[in-house]
Amino acid sequence: VESLKGKDLLALDQLSGDEVKGLVELGVVLKKLGTEGRYPKLLAGKILGMIFEKHSTRTRISFESGMIQLGGHAMYMNSRDLQIGRGESVYDTAHVLSGYLDAIMIRANKHTMVQELAEEASIPVINGLTDIYHPCQALADLLTVREVKGELKGRKIAYVGDGNNVAHSLIIAAAHTGMEIAVATPEGYEPSPDVLETAVAIAGKTGGQVSWTSDPVKAVSGADAVYTDTWTSMGQEEEAAARLEAFNGFMVDDALVKHAKDDFMFLHCLPAHRGEEVSASVIDGPNSYIFQQAENRLHAQKAVLASIL
Ligand code: CP
Ligand code: NVA
Repeated sequence: VESLKGKDLLALDQLSGDEVKGLVELGVVLKKLGTEGRYPKLLAGKILGMIFEKHSTRTRISFESGMIQLGGHAMYMNSRDLQIGRGESVYDTAHVLSGYLDAIMIRANKHTMVQELAEEASIPVINGLTDIYHPCQALADLLTVREVKGELKGRKIAYVGDGNNVAHSLIIAAAHTGMEIAVATPEGYEPSPDVLETAVAIAGKTGGQVSWTSDPVKAVSGADAVYTDTWTSMGQEEEAAARLEAFNGFMVDDALVKHAKDDFMFLHCLPAHRGEEVSASVIDGPNSYIFQQAENRLHAQKAVLASIL
């Protein structure tokens, strides 16, 4: 996707619909080549630095494998081990790392910190999850629906659970592709009004639809895909007990998915908590695509890396 060359990827509202769809299609192509054992060395000699302030399995490994498959190199940095973990400024870190690396991928507590890093760095910065967004996840999610259902436009995806980072990026991604996204959360755990407003504006141009309800059955009715995520995100551990109570009735279980289409897809960004946000019968059942979805992080991010670098 030519227009993304040299750009940051912090949030999907900064991309056009064509860019989002272009990344998904490039992901399809790179995945197909990969299954044939073909790994074009598009990023020979390029170095991606990966900074983590939080845990990760999928993001870390898929970015690292993706860079290797593209002929480049990826470097893992735990923020605690960097001087930034002892108070060195984001400003100085951004300027210094720009001299060593070709791009930075960062998983951070605060989105505003990632924005500052991107502003100060002279190299592209990719968001690997913040408190408000998880754009690379949403690209992999679209790729997965695209693979299983074909055309995205007009498909209905229901997101049930916490109106969190994963939900935010999914809502914007779906709006870009002309999908219908129906979100169900308990009151007090809604997606950010700004995100909903942005998504409604995007959907107005693409023919998509964006809605919120506190009724999971309403959201899931007739859905092609049903998505959930943990009720307690990283950094919210102290709220876990209160959240467990607040989300009572929001588990994606057999009774709920009966309202979706017969051939619905179940999606979850993982890590999952069986018996909380999803029942084992659904996540381990025949409609679950969670491992294809997790694998697609690799292919979608290779599309991102190849485009940006
Ligand atoms: N879905 C996701 O981002 O997983 P990790 O936290 O393992 O990276
Ligand atoms: N919402 C979760 C996603 C983890 C990939 C979190 O932020 O912890």
